[in-house]
Amino acid sequence: MSNQETVEVFKQIMGSYPTGVTIITTVNEEGSPVGLTVNSFASVSLDPLMVLWCLDRKSSHISAFKNSIGFAVHILAADQSELCWTFAGKSLDRFSKADWSYSDNNLPVISGALGIMECKTVQTIDAGDHIIFIGQILDINKQDKEPMLYFRRNVGLIPAGWPVLSK
Ligand SMILES: Cc1cc2nc3c(=O)[nH]c(=O)nc-3n(C[C@H](O)[C@H](O)[C@H](O)COP(=O)(O)O)c2cc1C
Repeated sequence: MSNQETVEVFKQIMGSYPTGVTIITTVNEEGSPVGLTVNSFASVSLDPLMVLWCLDRKSSHISAFKNSIGFAVHILAADQSELCWTFAGKSLDRFSKADWSYSDNNLPVISGALGIMECKTVQTIDAGDHIIFIGQILDINKQDKEPMLYFRRNVGLIPAGWPVLSK
C-alpha cells in the first residue's frame, strides 16, 4: 500500500470509530473567547481527574490554547448540532451563536451541554501534526441530557431502543 493509500484507510477506519462530540474553549491573549469542535477527547486519570484532547497545529487558536492556563470541555448534547458545526466552521465569530458566559475560572462556558469540565492545562505533548493537551479538572457540571454522536462525518443521537449486544 502506498503512503497515500495508508492515510486514506486510516481516515476511513477512524471515521467509522463512533465518538461523542465536544466543544473546547479558552480565552485568547486579547481576553476574547475562542473554541472549536473536537472529538479527540478522552479520559486519562481518575486520581487526579485528568482528560486529554488533540489540537491540529494548523488551528488558528494554537497560541491561545498554549498560552492560556486552561480550557473548558463541553460534552455536547444531541440537541446542539448547530453549535457543533458552527464551532467546526471557518467563522471566527462563533460565540455570537452561543449562549455563554465567563466562569469563576475565567473560562468561556457555553450553556446546554450534557457535561462541562473546566481544566487546568498540566501538560502539552508535541505529537506529529497535532499537540496533545492534558488537563486536570477544576470544576465539573452535568445535565440530564442525551449525548451527540459523531460517525462517518455525520452527527446523530443514540437510537431509541438502542440494540445492546450480549456480553
Ligand atoms: C466532529 C468533529 C471533530 C473534530 N475534532 C477535532 C479535533 O479533535 N482536533 C482538531 O484540531 N480539530 C478537530 N475538528 C476540526 C475543527 O473543529 C475545525 O478545524 C475548526 O474549525 C478549527 O478551527 P480553528 O482553525 O479556528 O481552530 C473536528 C471537527 C469536527 C466536525
